[in-house]
Amino acid sequence: MKCQYLIRMLAVVPALVVAGHASADSTGKWQDSQEIYSKVCGYCHEANVGPVITGRNLMPEYIQAIVRNGNRAMPAFRESEINDAALAGVVKLVSTSTSSLKK
Ligand code: HEC
Repeated sequence: MKCQYLIRMLAVVPALVVAGHASADSTGKWQDSQEIYSKVCGYCHEANVGPVITGRNLMPEYIQAIVRNGNRAMPAFRESEINDAALAGVVKLVSTSTSSLKK
């Protein structure tokens, strides 16, 4: 089944993120914002590698700028890694979260 293949591909993503080569699955699309948050952001931000970013009312513009530009230990993610539409979804999810989004 194609679906199972995609799920297996996504399981590899955290390792790729660490190598600085994060990317979406073979279709170039993530399943949803929660998945991106869990698989990419959560890899660091739910693991004490990066600061907690949920439940803090962080400004959407600020989150987006950090993700695109990086900041010290925070890696920058290019459009080819997380496209604008996908990033907008994650930014909304994080900025409006009231508590941890860990899944
Ligand atoms: C490889 C680990 C890693 C990944 C993956 C990662 N971050 Fe970060 N992030 C960090 C670290 C470390 C910092 C703190 C940087 C510093 O201040 O030196 C940070 C900082 C931030 C900040 C600023 C937090 C603050 O307190 O001001 C935001 C916002 C942020 N990250 C959003 C995201 C989002 C959204 C994603 C997913 C698209 C993501 N990060 C993925 C490691 C990561």
